[in-house]
Amino acid sequence: MSDKINYDAGRIKIRPSRPSDKAVVLDFCKHTFGRWGDYMPEVWDQWINTKAGLFFVATMDDRPVGVGKITVHRPGELWLEGLRVDPKYRGHGIGRIIQDYTWKKAMSLKPRFIRYATGSYNKISQHLGKSKSMRITAEFDEYAGKLLPAKETVLVPAKPIECGEYLSFFNSDRQAKHWKGLYLDSWSAKTFDKQALDGLIKQKRVYGYYDQRGLAGGLVILQSKDKKFYNYCRAAALEAKTFKTVLKEGRKLGYLLGAKKTEMHLPKAPWFRSIVKGTGWKKAMPIWMVILEWAREQ
Ligand SMILES: CC(C)(COP(=O)(O)OP(=O)(O)OC[C@H]1O[C@@H](n2cnc3c(N)ncnc32)[C@H](O)[C@@H]1OP(=O)(O)O)[C@@H](O)C(=O)NCCC(=O)NCCS
Repeated sequence: MSDKINYDAGRIKIRPSRPSDKAVVLDFCKHTFGRWGDYMPEVWDQWINTKAGLFFVATMDDRPVGVGKITVHRPGELWLEGLRVDPKYRGHGIGRIIQDYTWKKAMSLKPRFIRYATGSYNKISQHLGKSKSMRITAEFDEYAGKLLPAKETVLVPAKPIECGEYLSFFNSDRQAKHWKGLYLDSWSAKTFDKQALDGLIKQKRVYGYYDQRGLAGGLVILQSKDKKFYNYCRAAALEAKTFKTVLKEGRKLGYLLGAKKTEMHLPKAPWFRSIVKGTGWKKAMPIWMVILEWAREQ
């Protein structure tokens, strides 16, 4: 027997999330992504401090039945995340109400870009984005790998003064078009430009590989605050062989930085699928990440 609850969507209200919503929201988020659960418990305490009502709940009789969030990656660059509806209340229009509210609120911020990520299987989420004239702009495969115990790596940290050189290096990579002008902070996609790269270099997240030609490979990394998780955000090289070196050396770098677990995303394109062979990385799952984007016409 279905445990779904019938209700009138007219009873749904939206208001900013409150600390007291935590137990109810985390309870209905327990199994959002099947055996992966949900990352909501990890982000709740941080998200609840989001200002300007950008982390909101949909309520029925003031009890949360759904959540949504707008993250301002930087002024004009918005990221939608955390859309959830209590499984008991799904299929009756709450997702639509949250999406419509999110869109109105996002538009009031006069964005240049609105983006979000979802799974390739998630047709409802994609439908909601497309209904707002968003389109699938990029797709990424997730790879699993192991850190490689080592005493050193050939990767060297980029210096702030080298930002221009690194930017043209990443952008002139023959595979750059597959990144669609983005880099990935785990499941978040962000604009990859001079301002972003400058910040990444200052945070010591950009590394280079040099050979007799000069800068021949580049890697942007992300490490969680507790250092445990270590991901690749963007990679480039002069040619396939060096790209493989960068992927391999990155595993040593993670080890040397004290990480325990690692993963990476690469554009979903045949070149990347074949290049990972022999680098210690394996495609993690048959589904992939889909990025939807709305961009203001210039
Ligand atoms: C995605 C989610 C928020 C939708 O919530 P919901 O309340 O069930 O959604 P709704 O009933 O409002 O339906 C939303 C839309 O999807 C449409 N839809 C339903 N099934 C669909 C399918 N198989 N394919 C495409 N569209 C579908 C509905 O017709 C509706 O569109 P409309 O408003 O244009 O008619 C909910 O399923 C959920 O919490 N899923 C887990 C978390 C998740 O996937 N979040 C999204 C991004 S990570």
